[in-house]
Amino acid sequence: MIKNFLPYGRQSINENDIQAVSNVLREEIITRGKHVEAFEAAFAEECKAKYAVAFNSGTAALQASYFAANTGANDKVITTPNTFFSTAGSALAWGARIVFVDIDRNTGNISLDALEPTINQPNSRGKDIIVPVHFSGIAVDMEKIDRMIRRTDTIVIEDAAHAIGSKYSDGSPVGSCQWSHMTIFSFHPVKTITTSEGGAVTTNDPNLYHLLKRFRNNGIERDPKYLEQNFGPWHYEIYAATGNYNFTDLQGALGLSQLQRLDTFVTKRRQLVQRYRKLLKGAEHIRLFTDAHDENTAFHLFVVQIDFAAIKKDRSQVMEQLLKRKIGTQLHYIPIYRHPELRQRVGEIENYFPEAEAYYASALSLPLYYEMDLDDVDYVVKNLKEVTTKS
Ligand SMILES: Cc1ncc(COP(=O)(O)O)c(C=O)c1O
Repeated sequence: MIKNFLPYGRQSINENDIQAVSNVLREEIITRGKHVEAFEAAFAEECKAKYAVAFNSGTAALQASYFAANTGANDKVITTPNTFFSTAGSALAWGARIVFVDIDRNTGNISLDALEPTINQPNSRGKDIIVPVHFSGIAVDMEKIDRMIRRTDTIVIEDAAHAIGSKYSDGSPVGSCQWSHMTIFSFHPVKTITTSEGGAVTTNDPNLYHLLKRFRNNGIERDPKYLEQNFGPWHYEIYAATGNYNFTDLQGALGLSQLQRLDTFVTKRRQLVQRYRKLLKGAEHIRLFTDAHDENTAFHLFVVQIDFAAIKKDRSQVMEQLLKRKIGTQLHYIPIYRHPELRQRVGEIENYFPEAEAYYASALSLPLYYEMDLDDVDYVVKNLKEVTTKS
């Protein structure tokens, strides 16, 4: 069925997943119960973090992180333009200023050389909130960022929506928060594991953990330790107007089942990437990310950078021609400062980001998901080469 059309990404659901969710549907409690807790415990363990809090999306996980970080109007959120809008957009509710840093075209990640001069400004009234994104699964060198930070009030939030299962260069898992306060994940269906919609934050800090949970459920506080008054077991108090971002037991059961296959998913995605690399080696007008991090990377995306001017076709034509051959592609991402919601706040700043712009002019994500075969990669590359070399 899926062989007919190759989307750029999709989930893999097996009978165990279906059974796990069906079982919960027969239970008394179907949300906020033991399956959520079991998933959180397993996820924290997988990431080697002390705590994990699950949310109903990666975006909610980001919002909760900005809340827990006590983001305020004087704070600067310092991040990459090559990401999904919510990486920065989630901080706008607290009035934070968004500061962009150019990218490194070899990885699609924030450029650490460009990051250094933008942080640590001593006379700034607010704090720095540094938000690197592990784009396509390639981990940013967090230890290096940690060494750059001079101000003690700086907060670091890793956006690891793409990087479940990836490792840093020392072999420790992304999400372990050795060099950050919090790490966020997304379990949207195109990601490496899915809970349909869903997300999580990992942290090692008990105070942040407490605030993340408070954010998730309408700012509700029940723990007697934090209550102003306590009239009885029914008593609770609200400490922030947040919203309902709860993760259900159905999602917890699916997540737990998917987590068991994480290594299998990661291995297969890496094999597919190796095949792409082999077949695209030396291809004219097509540039790939560095392979230096492949052994540590759980690939969410496989991005090529095509010199569209040289092939005399634009991205839309290439996408349309591939679609006719049943190959789905996507652009990750339009630099987020170009979206009207941010442009009206930061202005037309694209000229300051030559690398992000050059990347944007050339990027295309090719199909990559667990249920693809190596043959499918061969088919994609054969067609990509045809489309990019013939008129
Ligand atoms: C880098 C990045 N951050 C955050 C998100 C938000 O995750 P979700 O779609 O689960 O809200 C995404 C999802 O596309 C993402 O790619």
